[in-house]
Amino acid sequence: MPKSDPNVEHTAERIEADFDVSAARPDLVRRALLLTAVAGACWCTRPAAADDEPGSDERPQKGDLLVFSEGDHEGAIIKPDDLKLGGPPVHAWPKDPKSSVVRSGSILNEVLIVRLNASELDDDTRSRSADGIVAYSAICSHAGCPVTEWVKGENTDKDVLKCPCHNSEYDPRHGAEVIFGPAPRHLAALPLAIADGSLTVAAPFVGKVGGQQPG
Ligand code: FES
Repeated sequence: MPKSDPNVEHTAERIEADFDVSAARPDLVRRALLLTAVAGACWCTRPAAADDEPGSDERPQKGDLLVFSEGDHEGAIIKPDDLKLGGPPVHAWPKDPKSSVVRSGSILNEVLIVRLNASELDDDTRSRSADGIVAYSAICSHAGCPVTEWVKGENTDKDVLKCPCHNSEYDPRHGAEVIFGPAPRHLAALPLAIADGSLTVAAPFVGKVGGQQPG
């Protein structure tokens, strides 16, 4: 059975996104679309894979480091200077600094980190940011697709986070609130801090993580 998570609200109406993160990202999107079509826009949970390291499916915890989850620097610790002001976001996993376990055992742990001008952030968002850097769950609150795009919004000239499955858009300057599309709620926010020159997790996710059935 999947492990329970105190940071994720479990309801009969909601089913979490959680699947094999070893698959290539386009495959994740295709699988999201397929499952959305056949299962009425919901996701199913899965147990952690047998070869997942203990603790790799636990949600981000205070003090965790953050490492690149893809690209040439995959696995490297993320420092503020790695992030370009104004984006695009980088995709990251939390990493337990004591055990060195990367918490990649659950897709619900992947986050998007983007550096913005701190003056653009609302007060709540700024309070969770570190030098204008904000982090959010990479999983859409609609049906659990990975949020992969950084594009001009449908109704704004600013770049926003966008889910390619049904075009929901989230504004990272305002707590990743939904500004377009069918997503029912904002992305979960991951408060950040800077310690010893590296980005760290300041507190667990704020808000629910993962997709839910619409309506
Ligand atoms: S899963 Fe539907 S908009 Fe993201």
